Amino acid sequence: MSTLLDISQVGMEFPTPSGPFTALRDINLKIRQGEFVSLIGHSGCGKSTVLNIVAGLHRATSGGVILNGREVTEPGPERAVVFQNHSLLPWLTAYENVELAVKQVFRKRMSRPEIREWIDHNLELVHMTHAAHKRPGEISGGMKQRVGIARALAMQPKVLLMDEPFGALDALTRAHMQDSLMEIQADLKNTVIMITHDVDEAVLLSDRIVMMTNGPAATIGEVLDIDLERPRHRLELAGDSHYNHYRARVLKFLHERHAKPGLDRSQRQPAPVADETVQGSARDTGKVVDAA
Ligand SMILES: Nc1ncnc2c1ncn2[C@@H]1O[C@H](COP(=O)(O)OP(=O)(O)OP(=O)(O)O)[C@@H](O)[C@H]1O
Ligand SMILES: [Mg+2]
Repeated sequence: MSTLLDISQVGMEFPTPSGPFTALRDINLKIRQGEFVSLIGHSGCGKSTVLNIVAGLHRATSGGVILNGREVTEPGPERAVVFQNHSLLPWLTAYENVELAVKQVFRKRMSRPEIREWIDHNLELVHMTHAAHKRPGEISGGMKQRVGIARALAMQPKVLLMDEPFGALDALTRAHMQDSLMEIQADLKNTVIMITHDVDEAVLLSDRIVMMTNGPAATIGEVLDIDLERPRHRLELAGDSHYNHYRARVLKFLHERHAKPGLDRSQRQPAPVADETVQGSARDTGKVVDAA
């Protein structure tokens, strides 16, 4: 499959009161049509910044992003974003928030009843039918996040950009949403870039995992191809040696190579016992502990 999205030589400097802060440097990534790519890295390394540049919300200070042969200079409906902090309009209900996006994309192609059905379908997908009439102030953080996901999916975007979309969800809902996303993506062949802190989630969902080094001047440290057959089933994979190998590779990158920014391996002190405990439990849950 051909390259859909080309992130080329992207660098980002933010102006700060104490001078420019280099967040990113030399980010190079080509993403194919229909590919599912996860971005993983310690807190503050620059993952959201990369996503915002692809979304067209930030302009890179060097390099750029080409989507389907055209440079990205602004946001567009072919790139739907699920933000890290859900971004619903507070004066609209869950239903109306999704409706706004759906009308933006489908007003000309769908009749009114079709639009209504499509909104209902997407709210159902995220288990939010019962609260469709509630405003963001009346629902929990996880529920708001689910509405944000429904809104993005309902736009049937060519590229789906998700910033820790399932972080605020309980384990069961999270598993359900991951499975739904895999099904939707298999069906619609969306290209997805997802930021996650969850190693299991990254391995389960991704075709490739892009691991970022710590900032400042963060860049891509390693890219791991996840060569597991689809459809993927979490229970079957739990005992799969390839799955566990991938999982270990990502954990190793996060916990060892980049646990202490600015030091190379030879300079590092052995981790204190307390640290080991944290890392041990992180290994068990597959969650990234920010060791930086
Ligand atoms: N508008 C801004 N002005 C100045 N610095 C910024 C700005 N936005 C981000 N940064 C800095 O850039 C770096 C990367 O931030 P970013 O939000 O991309 O990290 P992240 O990897 O998404 O972190 P997290 O996992 O905590 O969400 C951080 O050091 C952050 O402080
Ligand atoms: Mg972020």
